[in-house]
Order: sequence, then structure tokens, then C-alpha cells
Amino acid sequence: MPDAPNGAGGELFTEERSAEVVAASFARTPDPRLRRVLTSMVEHLHAFVKDVELTEEEWGAAIAFLTRTGQTSDDVRQEVILLSDVLGVSMLVETINHRTGGTSTESTVLGPFHMVESPPRELGADIALDGKGEPCLVTGRVTGPDGEPLAGALVDVWQANDDGFYDVQQPGVQPERNLRGLFTADADGRFWFRSIVPRHYPIPDDGPVGELLAATARHPNRPAHVHFLVTAPGHRPVTTHLFVAGDPYIDSDAVFGVKESLIREFPVVDDPARAAEVGLPNPFRTVHFDVALLRADRPVVHGAPVGRAS
Ligand SMILES: [Fe+2]
Repeated sequence: MPDAPNGAGGELFTEERSAEVVAASFARTPDPRLRRVLTSMVEHLHAFVKDVELTEEEWGAAIAFLTRTGQTSDDVRQEVILLSDVLGVSMLVETINHRTGGTSTESTVLGPFHMVESPPRELGADIALDGKGEPCLVTGRVTGPDGEPLAGALVDVWQANDDGFYDVQQPGVQPERNLRGLFTADADGRFWFRSIVPRHYPIPDDGPVGELLAATARHPNRPAHVHFLVTAPGHRPVTTHLFVAGDPYIDSDAVFGVKESLIREFPVVDDPARAAEVGLPNPFRTVHFDVALLRADRPVVHGAPVGRAS
């Protein structure tokens, strides 16, 4: 049979061979990666429709849902990313693309709130500008994979305030750049700053993604965390979170961002002399979070981690 103009090989559409017929239409795609992605997507999409025997009403509802998801997105709200987040796709893409081989700090999602540059601050500075929350001293050290200190590493941090909102969500309510800071590690790779113990907060749930969560009896909350983006010359950057042990949502993050290696205790320190030294009221909370970076020339880890079934 001669090739059809669309490259499908002339085979007519049938229920049984629907995926093969449509995949064949991509056979002449010049970019081999695009061809592979589209072919696989069609195969999985058709298998899904056949698996659940999708009804026309359900198909219509899906189209309407996706349309509203796009229409809810604007310059400051990205409902499509939120949908990817609650389906675990954001975390899966992040995890596949940042395999560590167990030798560096694990990554997690960047999230939608790193939309402004963090202000450079001196080591020890207090990033909590609104006076709310439980004072906390955050300390840590940036090293390479063999524990060597990375002097001058940049440590970019941001977190929500004690009401559960980022500064960019409350312009005119929170001080500008509240709970954000860009720190430069000292000669020993160490960094420290003052902040507050983070609190859990809900992702925006007044749109289509919120409807999805409600329809599936899921809550919209993310467990308490501080965002970190750590960079050093000659090393691969890491985008990650520091999570608070014992948070009520630590096992049910709405966007699946929690990794065991990123959870830390925030113990109380009751020591007036130490409190005076670091500039916090006594007692105060503390947390220590070391960050290890891979060297940039280390080969990328391909394939699933050892020990996985496939
Ligand atoms: Fe966050």
C-alpha cells in the first residue's frame, strides 16, 4: 500500500489498532526525540481511554476541566503547573533529571514562589521582617561530594510566613522580600541566618485543581518547609526543601515533594547567653541543614536507580 500523504501508511482507523495508526502518522517526524515522545504519548493515551472505556460525557468533562485550568492561569498564577504538581508529574520529572546516586543532597520541586530575586544578606541576618512566628536559627554547611567545604557557595532561601503565605501572595500586607535571603557561605562553607519555624500551608485551591482535590477527598496542604537553591562554581546546583519533622502533613504533601533525607528536627535551645550571641529571644528553635553538591563534570546518572524493579 502506498504511503498516505500524512505518513500513516494508509491504514484506516480501527478501535483495535487506533494507537498504531495514529503513531504511524508521526513516522516522518524529523526530530527523533519528538517522534519518540509523541509516539509513546499516543500509545499510553489510547491505552488509558480503552482501559477505562471513557464515556463521551467524561471526555467532555475532561476537555472543560483542562480548558478552565488554562484559563485560570495568568502571570502570577500557574494552574497548569499546579495540576502537574498534584498529579506527581512535577516531582517525577524533577527526580528523573536530578538523580544523585546517593552522594549529594536530594532535590525537590522549585515551586511557584521563586518569582523574585532574593536580596543578598549578611550571614546571621534575620529574614523574618514581619515579626511573626517562632524565632529560629538556621545553620548549615555546603560541601562537595567528598565533604570538602565550598567557600563562597550561594545559598538562596525563601519560605512562607507564619500565616502560610509568601510575600508575593500578599503585596502591601507583608514587607517586600519578607522571608527571603541570598547568603554567601564563609571560607569553611558554613552559612547561618535567623528566621522563623515554617508552617504548613495550602496550595491555591479555589480553582479547577482545588475541585479535583475536593472530588478525590484530598487536602491541599504542603508540610512546613524552607526552600533552598544552592550553587557553587564547578558544581551542579541543587533545588530543594528543608522539611520540619513531625509536621501533620509530612506523609501527605499535596505535591509529593517530601523526601526522607530532607526532614530535620527543630530542637528548642534554652540558653540566654547563646540567644544573646545570635540575636534571638530566649528560648529559640534551631535547625542544621548541610548541603552536598555534585561536581559539574560528574557523568549524569542514566536509568532507574539500582534496586528498582525496572
Ligand atoms: Fe513552598
